[in-house]
Amino acid sequence: MWRLKFAPDQASTFAEQYDWLFWATTALTIFFTIVVGLLVIFFALRFREGKKVDRSNAHDHHLMLELTWSIIPLIMGLGIFGWASYLFVETRQPPKNALDIYVIGKQWMWHAQHSNGVRENNMLHLPSGTPVRLTMISQDVIHSFFIPAFRMKQDVIPGRYTQMWFTPTKPGVYNLFCTEYCGTQHSEMGGYVVVMEPSEYQEWLANGGDNVPVKPMTMVQKGEKIFKDKACFKCHGDQDIHEGPSLVGIYNQRRVMKDNSVRLADDEYLRQAMYDPYAHILKGYENTMPSYKPKSTDDLEGGLSEEDVLNVIEYIKSLRSSPTAPAPAIPPLATGVPPTEVPN
Ligand code: CUA
Repeated sequence: MWRLKFAPDQASTFAEQYDWLFWATTALTIFFTIVVGLLVIFFALRFREGKKVDRSNAHDHHLMLELTWSIIPLIMGLGIFGWASYLFVETRQPPKNALDIYVIGKQWMWHAQHSNGVRENNMLHLPSGTPVRLTMISQDVIHSFFIPAFRMKQDVIPGRYTQMWFTPTKPGVYNLFCTEYCGTQHSEMGGYVVVMEPSEYQEWLANGGDNVPVKPMTMVQKGEKIFKDKACFKCHGDQDIHEGPSLVGIYNQRRVMKDNSVRLADDEYLRQAMYDPYAHILKGYENTMPSYKPKSTDDLEGGLSEEDVLNVIEYIKSLRSSPTAPAPAIPPLATGVPPTEVPN
């Protein structure tokens, strides 16, 4: 049967929740528009000039009526606010076991990399029923990553990572768009999200994706290679040495800086440490590390591309001390000092 379609498919757990909120807000708006509109028309006709109606005893206020029409919509408005806030907060908190995929936006394409090293352009293969976290960055201007069927959209910005997470629910092929005007070919910047059964996805991943005939290196292997090629290990070995701190087990730990501020060693921290190492110096060390920021995206010249940085971060994440090693002490956060700062 022909069905009028008001919205794209619902293909993530957020899609259904979002649609309920959207239609509830729309229904309330339509209801009050009709009630107020009909009353306006009714009174305009009934009390129009020249109409003989009883105009004596006209009320100029009615406390109970006014309280009713103020308090009921107030409760409804606050209810919508609470509901929307709950959903918003939920969409900002990826679960710990989420599958990590990395996305780089550039004029004018989307580039995705899976942790086993499989890369794809303007396509994103995902397993259904699995929470997925995208860590995204732009190589040039602001883009925006939008999957309508998931009801999820997030700006992708040069200079800092942004994240998006969702759980795809239905195998299928869905549109992927850029929704931030980013230059002449903005309208062509997009592609498809392919949601597969988890076993199919694993097979696809293991076979190197769609285009790659040989098995690619994993992101950790790529990161390790860069780490060796750039001789990072000379200063960052298994132990802290005078030249530089060890990077083993530092991921997601709190680090004390020279100025006694405390920062969380997350993706953003590690990226800044490679591109702008002078911004924050670790306590006990000197400002000796060179920057690995490339001259431009076309001229890397000794620097690391955004993709290289993501690979090195994956490698650093993989550096763990032995499972029996005691957990590193976590210094408390100084009051008023945010764990990370967003670089300009
Ligand atoms: Cu990228 Cu529009």
